[in-house]
Amino acid sequence: MNSEPAADPLLRLRDLRLDILGADGADLPILRGIDLTLRAGEAVGIVGESGSGKSMTLRCVGRLTPPGARITGDVLVGGHDVNRLRGKDLRRYRQTQVGYIFQDPRAAINPMHTVGDFLLEPARDRGEDRTAAATAAAATLTRMGITDPLRRMRQYPFELSGGLLQRVMIASVLLAGPALLLADEPTTALDVTTQSEVLALTDRLRRDRGIAMLFVTHDLDLAMAVCHRIVVLYAGRVLEVSDSRTIRRAALHPYTRALLASRPPVGIRLPRIPVIPGAPVSAADAGPGCPFAARCPVALPVCGSEVPAPTAHPGGTVACHRAAEIAAGALDPLLPSVAQHPTGLDPATPGNPVPGGTGERA
Ligand SMILES: Nc1ncnc2c1ncn2[C@@H]1O[C@H](COP(=O)(O)OP(=O)(O)OP(=O)(O)O)[C@@H](O)[C@H]1O
Ligand code: SF4
Ligand SMILES: [Mg+2]
Repeated sequence: MNSEPAADPLLRLRDLRLDILGADGADLPILRGIDLTLRAGEAVGIVGESGSGKSMTLRCVGRLTPPGARITGDVLVGGHDVNRLRGKDLRRYRQTQVGYIFQDPRAAINPMHTVGDFLLEPARDRGEDRTAAATAAAATLTRMGITDPLRRMRQYPFELSGGLLQRVMIASVLLAGPALLLADEPTTALDVTTQSEVLALTDRLRRDRGIAMLFVTHDLDLAMAVCHRIVVLYAGRVLEVSDSRTIRRAALHPYTRALLASRPPVGIRLPRIPVIPGAPVSAADAGPGCPFAARCPVALPVCGSEVPAPTAHPGGTVACHRAAEIAAGALDPLLPSVAQHPTGLDPATPGNPVPGGTGERA
């Protein structure tokens, strides 16, 4: 777990909505009013099943949304509205305020340039001394656990393994010294041993430098281990926000409880995998009420027609019409919700249950 973050928010998302203009000329809803805060030095994990809007939330913060995107609501970083940044100010924001780590480093690094060129490009743009910049880059590569950094800087991306390249990517972010790190499944494409090495290094360097992080992952256990707080997304909405300790033992939202219950147990071979029955819906396909209503075992008629407002609980907030009953222990939404999914059944087949949230793509 990390050291304590600062009190004031570095990032504030307020009623963030994202629509993307479809080929038919109609707006496709993607995010339906995200509220989220992140303090300097804090790590917040964003979890949820595929298509819930995790990457799009990060893209709104980094101003890297696809063509046809329409953003409303506030994205405030250090009190400044990111949506209003243009030209030079936007470039400076992207280069100095936020660092982006993508799932696939090969897609983010120009294959035609050497690793050294990639690392030194920002310093060159700023007109800095090349020798000093190269020394700083080599030192950062060393801190990322890369031996013989000068030789690596002469190599091209295709000459490096995925794990090494992800370390280079992270080194480039650290060199820029941003206040905010946006990490979108940064280790999913790596093998398990490399995953934990890269993550441990990143986490240590992030804490040493007091960098705040939004960490997107399918792995709820990983998020709870690395982050102070967890945000659970579903169909472009925040269903629950909780600190990592509270969510583990006292999650209130039926979806969060189902995610926790459907994690594959460590070290135990089960004939059947626990899953959340039904398939996740996108924001565009969600009905007028609670987006989880079609899969929720304790849904009431009101759930299908009214979106529950977030209410505060000791560890954060929860958006569920029945949260008070669950908090009081009068209702257990878990027992009927997590089915036993026979191993070997293809979960991608429409109509088959989908493995719950975390870890299914790891
Ligand atoms: N360029 C695009 N145009 C239109 N819709 C898009 C585009 N990119 C993503 N979407 C849609 O936006 C929704 C949210 O996508 P997003 O990539 O944020 O999901 P995610 O939670 O990151 O999923 P995953 O875990 O699979 O990465 C999905 O329904 C997706 O189909
Ligand atoms: S009880 Fe209702 S509001 Fe709560 S998760 Fe289930 S469907 Fe949604
Ligand atoms: Mg994604």
